[in-house]
Amino acid sequence: MSNQLEKVKELIALREEARIGGGEKAIQKQHDKGKYTARERIAQLLDEGSFEEIDMFVRHRCYNFGQEKKSFLGDGVVTGYGTIEGRLVYVFAQDFTVFGGSLSETMALKICKIMDMAMKMGAPVIGLNDSGGARIQEGINALAGYAEIFQRNILASGVIPQISGILGPCAGGAVYSPALTDFTIMTKGISYMFLTGPKVVKTVTGEDVTQEALGGAQVHSQKSGVAHFAAEDGEEALKIIRKLFSYIPQNNLEEPPLVECNDPIDRLEDSLNEIIPDSANRPYDMYEVIGAIVDNGEFLEVQRDYAKNIIVGFARFNGQAVGIVANQPKYLAGVLDSNASRKGARFVRFCDAFNIPLVTLVDVPGFLPGTGQEYNGVILHGAKLLYAFGEATVPKVTVTLRKSYGGSHIVMSCKQLRGDMNYAWPTAEIAVMGADGAVEVLYAREAKESADPAKVLAEKKEEYNKLFCNPYNAARYGYIDDVIEPRNTRFRIIRALQQLATKKVVNPAKKHGNIPL
Ligand code: HXC
Repeated sequence: MSNQLEKVKELIALREEARIGGGEKAIQKQHDKGKYTARERIAQLLDEGSFEEIDMFVRHRCYNFGQEKKSFLGDGVVTGYGTIEGRLVYVFAQDFTVFGGSLSETMALKICKIMDMAMKMGAPVIGLNDSGGARIQEGINALAGYAEIFQRNILASGVIPQISGILGPCAGGAVYSPALTDFTIMTKGISYMFLTGPKVVKTVTGEDVTQEALGGAQVHSQKSGVAHFAAEDGEEALKIIRKLFSYIPQNNLEEPPLVECNDPIDRLEDSLNEIIPDSANRPYDMYEVIGAIVDNGEFLEVQRDYAKNIIVGFARFNGQAVGIVANQPKYLAGVLDSNASRKGARFVRFCDAFNIPLVTLVDVPGFLPGTGQEYNGVILHGAKLLYAFGEATVPKVTVTLRKSYGGSHIVMSCKQLRGDMNYAWPTAEIAVMGADGAVEVLYAREAKESADPAKVLAEKKEEYNKLFCNPYNAARYGYIDDVIEPRNTRFRIIRALQQLATKKVVNPAKKHGNIPL
């Protein structure tokens, strides 16, 4: 065998060695836990055969605790690039079979390298997390590695999309990388995120709590809002990432991909002409409206189980991706509260950063009153949503279906927040407040002094309803551009989006705004 052939053989052998990461036993352990290995995950995530691995020969360079005797090719993370539906993406997948996927100095360098490449090429980064946190043997070097990653997450924010899959443990300060990215997808039962684990919690606060109850997928998708999606298993998590990608562009200078649309743009939805109940206090399901108007009824909801009074997610109109923000009258009457405001604001800002037009469907009775909300800072949280809509320069189409009262009317992408096309259904009620509250404030004394208080209040309510609880008063001032037939909503939104395709608005130059955090 020639020298060269021998060297090629050596290369092939080294590659084989790298591909099994921490070894067959560790791989078996990973499978036994119901988890895939880093390379298996990448294969599921990317288009078949598209992955190009880099830095396969990197090893850690730690000499503490005898680490020099124990090292693996690739060192705990698989990095590289490939495609999703033919579009370039950069990927890193932590390899739990090597030191529990814990982050070493060299592992951080590998991750930072592909983040830098992604920025240079203007392509998204997907991180698949499954790690015991900072590699304990490397001490401060591991921490420095995290900080390098965080810094890149921050600078990449709003430039390239960043997605985090949490497919195993993600604990300690390590959680801050996913938190800095745009979307976090967790896996039910096998992934968890927390700053301090159950043992530390017990020591510090005395609280007994399991990993699942402290930071499992359900906790973060329902209670904390940290996770945007909770997948049933690892495979589904990766499918969600692929789907998510179909709606978003490669970077902040590009548009989302246009998809061929075979759903007629002028499809009339007669059911929408009868969806609003006669009684103002009866709810209906906003999902029905969304399903009826978007292409083929397809809607990828974000944070489905968190702050259900507001719905956010991606859909398409005539093949064009949009972000939908909608109040949900079926949950807490669609009221805005702190969590709903934060959820809405973050989504609006993502869409605006990545050139995704916003379609806002309004049926909101106001902000939730009370000490619970006020003590919790609803003023600041509500202001986040206000700020997000107000600063957004993407095309903004708003349709008011029913209630749109007071501050919440303004916040939900009204005309003065630079709404481009603001439509209303004939059932819209655009006013400072509902008739009951308004009449109570204005006529309580008059009613009390009259012989028949109920009659006075009823008359005044009728007068108020006639004057304000309709779309025509707002339309009279041009605050509503047109009152539309509900069944025609899809067509009107598509027309509006077509018209707005060349929209150019530039906000005043500044270092950055000071959003009320
Ligand atoms: C080095 C680690 C490690 C770590 C796990 N391993 N975590 N090695 N540094 N942080 C190693 C284990 O020693 C073991 O090696 C192998 O990975 C698999 O781990 P197991 O414990 O056998 O797996 P499992 O039972 O599934 O438990 C997983 C785990 C547990 C829950 C993650 O390993 C664990 O609690 N690890 C420590 C977590 C932690 O406290 N990390 C530091 C957090 S603070 P062998 O050789 O036996 O196979 C932090 C600060 C970040 O991360 C700050 C950023 C700003």
